[in-house]
Amino acid sequence: MLDFETTVKTRQSIRKFLPTPMTETEIKQILTDAQNAPSACNTQPWLVHIASGETLKKLTDRIAQRFENNQFSRDFEFDQSKYTGEYEKRWREQYAHVFTTSFGIPRENREARKNVIEQNITGYGAPHVAFLFMPDIENHHVNLAADLGMYSQTFLLSLTARGFGGIPQLFFALFADDIREILGVSKDYKLLHGIAFGYPDWDAMQNKVHLGRVSIEECAVLHW
Ligand SMILES: Cc1cc2nc3c(=O)[nH]c(=O)nc-3n(C[C@H](O)[C@H](O)[C@H](O)COP(=O)(O)O)c2cc1C
Repeated sequence: MLDFETTVKTRQSIRKFLPTPMTETEIKQILTDAQNAPSACNTQPWLVHIASGETLKKLTDRIAQRFENNQFSRDFEFDQSKYTGEYEKRWREQYAHVFTTSFGIPRENREARKNVIEQNITGYGAPHVAFLFMPDIENHHVNLAADLGMYSQTFLLSLTARGFGGIPQLFFALFADDIREILGVSKDYKLLHGIAFGYPDWDAMQNKVHLGRVSIEECAVLHW
């Protein structure tokens, strides 16, 4: 198992997985780790459904069909164009990183870029996807999402520390109704995002370069 510093520094979003599935014991170990995440008043408001094998195939087939026809059913808004100023600079750099550095696609090649976006459908080839749902408690979505975010990061760090990898995907949240229907989840639960996970393909170009971060001075202020 990796130490804390190595785990935090080497965790990265995996955009190509090997098809080899993890065992049920390994997945349960990740869930056990993630269950230690903190939450407001220890409410632990996460509901996690993990899809693999036939269930995942059924889901990704449906999502592919919906995506093709522009049929979306998201529970929460996400519009990156609302992120302006320094945030816009960062998301533009992230796109350049994913398309150009990771996948080697020139800016003008729209078809190849579309192909990369479509790889979200299969979770970049991951054998498992965890779908994170939260209860629909009036006026509390922000706090619930904060708890689920802590859960997600613990889940991701556990994967990295134990030799696996994952990627959180807002993309899946675009198809909340279909995912709920196929997994048999009540409409009382909202879909925040999915996490595709498994064994990273470390030979793949997409996984070789890790996106950097701005300096701590840009985001933190110390008051002595
Ligand atoms: C909530 C959340 C949703 C994300 N959704 C997607 C997604 O739908 N597709 C994708 O390729 N990456 C997605 N990402 C990955 C981010 O692009 C990535 O975390 C960020 O660029 C930093 O890179 P790193 O995770 O490799 O450090 C998401 C990340 C988070 C935290």
